[in-house]
Amino acid sequence: TWTPGNFIEETVEAIRAQVGSDRVICGLSGGVDSAVAAVLVHRAVGDQLVCIFVDNGLLRAGEAEEVVTTFRKNLAINLVHVDAAGEFLAQLAEVTNPETKRIRIGNTFVRVFEREARKVEGARFLCQGTLYPDVIESGSHGKGASTIKTHHNVGGLPPDMKLELVEPLRYLFKDEVRRIGEALGLPEEMVWRHPFPGPGLAIRCIGEVTPEKLEILRRADRIVMDEIREAGLYRDLWQAFAVLTDTKTVGVMGDFRTYGYAVAVRAVVADDAMTADWARLPHELLSRISNRIVNEVHGVNRVVYDITPKPPGTIEWE
Ligand code: XMP
Repeated sequence: TWTPGNFIEETVEAIRAQVGSDRVICGLSGGVDSAVAAVLVHRAVGDQLVCIFVDNGLLRAGEAEEVVTTFRKNLAINLVHVDAAGEFLAQLAEVTNPETKRIRIGNTFVRVFEREARKVEGARFLCQGTLYPDVIESGSHGKGASTIKTHHNVGGLPPDMKLELVEPLRYLFKDEVRRIGEALGLPEEMVWRHPFPGPGLAIRCIGEVTPEKLEILRRADRIVMDEIREAGLYRDLWQAFAVLTDTKTVGVMGDFRTYGYAVAVRAVVADDAMTADWARLPHELLSRISNRIVNEVHGVNRVVYDITPKPPGTIEWE
């Protein structure tokens, strides 16, 4: 019978046999798949593994720190933390088109990852957290960009870097990966994290992405997540997040008129990302989220809740 324990034992053996005494590179995204894949490789070959975490500056509040702490401090895994936020933001300057954002981010990721991977001397393998559904669906989903899941995209690496693939999760479904992640002792926030798009907060920041707007979005989003966790609803939802719209509206605070951004809150239930319904969150919870955002996030004076199912809406706004 299949158990996480058996799977871990057999997979660690198989990785050892495949890799021998060569070095393995693994790209970390902050998500559960790449994390579980990396920890399996680490169990198998220890310091022959070098993880590369390309920090694009588009993650949620606290997530980059969580990756670094978990891998470096708690698991003692070799981790290269590449702070590429400036490079990504420069590529996004004045870009408002969602597809252009995706393409710029995907290309930048490949360029930065390649640059770092070349610095790892004697690397022969590339570890990827490809799951069974990725294998059968062969990768393309979402909004039509070929850059989706660029961290999974070996096609993006130049041919002279002939790295052989290590894909320890390629026969697994997500729920199995989560069980293995728990058995491996990964933090629960990482194991149960909602899906998060590769282009990150850039496609939740409508219009041009700037450091100021990202900061507003991060603060609002953190409140949404904290309140949903606090209410014990995190695992019931497929995804939940804040969107910073590019609309400013008039409000009133004390004796003053305000003119600030409208933030949209999106929370959906789903079994997979093909269809989704808006979550019937308790009104009290929505009220707390709204009050906290307008009171605590400077620059925002209105909160709306997205009540559009998919289809016809998509989960993301861009
Ligand atoms: P939509 O918005 O199309 O999203 O209903 C379906 C699922 O895909 C995620 N998504 C993406 N994931 N790169 C990704 O890695 C992307 O460009 C991208 N666009 C959407 C979205 O978060 C949802 O889970």
